[in-house]
Amino acid sequence: MKIGIIGSGNIGGTLGRHWAKAGHEVMFSSRNPESLQPMADAVGAQTGTVEAAADFGEVILLAVPYAKVPEVAQQVGPLEGKILIDAGNPYPQRDGEMAQRVIDDDAQTATGFVAAQFPGAQTVKAFNSVYYEVLDQKAFRAGDERIAVQICSDDPQAKQTVIQLIEAIGFAPQDIGDLDSGTIFEPNAPLYNKNLKIGEAEALLKQLNV
Ligand SMILES: NC(=O)c1ccc[n+]([C@@H]2O[C@H](COP(=O)([O-])OP(=O)(O)OC[C@H]3O[C@@H](n4cnc5c(N)ncnc54)[C@H](OP(=O)(O)O)[C@@H]3O)[C@@H](O)[C@H]2O)c1
Repeated sequence: MKIGIIGSGNIGGTLGRHWAKAGHEVMFSSRNPESLQPMADAVGAQTGTVEAAADFGEVILLAVPYAKVPEVAQQVGPLEGKILIDAGNPYPQRDGEMAQRVIDDDAQTATGFVAAQFPGAQTVKAFNSVYYEVLDQKAFRAGDERIAVQICSDDPQAKQTVIQLIEAIGFAPQDIGDLDSGTIFEPNAPLYNKNLKIGEAEALLKQLNV
C-alpha cells in the first residue's frame, strides 16, 4: 500500500519506518524534505514535499502538531477518496487557544474537527493514544504480547484497512467504534496513553462499560 506521511517526527517517523520495513511504499514529507533523506534511505522509503506525500498516499498519516492541521488542509486540499489517519491530539500548552476551543466544544470531537478539514477523505482515528517510544520499541510482536492501538472511524472499509496496517507492524487493533467514540482515547480519557497489551486493554474497556 502507498502511504504518505505528513509530519515525519516522533509519530510519523516511527510509523513510516515500520511500514516501510513491513513492505509498504512510504513517502515521508517535511517542509524540508532533504532533512528526511537519511531516515528514508535506511528503510527504502521516499521523501517529498507535504503536497507530494498527499498525492502519493492511498493512505495519509497526519502527525503534525494539532494547531497546524488547518494550515496543512489549506495546503493539500480535501484528500478526495483517500484514507486519512488522524494521530493528533489537541494540547493547549503546545497548540494554544484553538486546542482549548476544540476541547471545550461539546458538539465536535478532536478528530471530528480534523475530519471536517478534509471533507473528501475517510478519516480514521488511530495511534494518537500510544506514546511514540512504545510505538518505536514494542513493534513487531505477536499474539497476546502485542500492545493495543485504539482505533475508530465512521467508515468500516477505511477502518479495516487501518486495522491491517496496525497488524502489519505487530500491534493489536482495539476497535472502539465510530468516530465519536474516540473521545475515550483522547488526552485525559481512560484509554489514553495506557500502552497496555491487548488483553489488558480489552479488560479495561469492559470495566469502563461503554
Ligand atoms: N509524541 C508522542 O508520543 C505522540 C503520541 C501520540 C500522538 N501524538 C500526536 O501526534 C502529533 C505529532 O506529534 P509528534 O510528537 O510526532 O510531533 P513532532 O515530533 O514535533 O513532529 C511533527 C512534525 O510535523 C511537521 N510540521 C510542523 N508544522 C508543520 C506544518 N505547518 N506543515 C507541515 N508539517 C509540519 C514537522 O516537520 P518539519 O518541521 O520537518 O516540516 C514535524 O516533524 C501531535 O498532535 C501529537 O500530540 C504524539
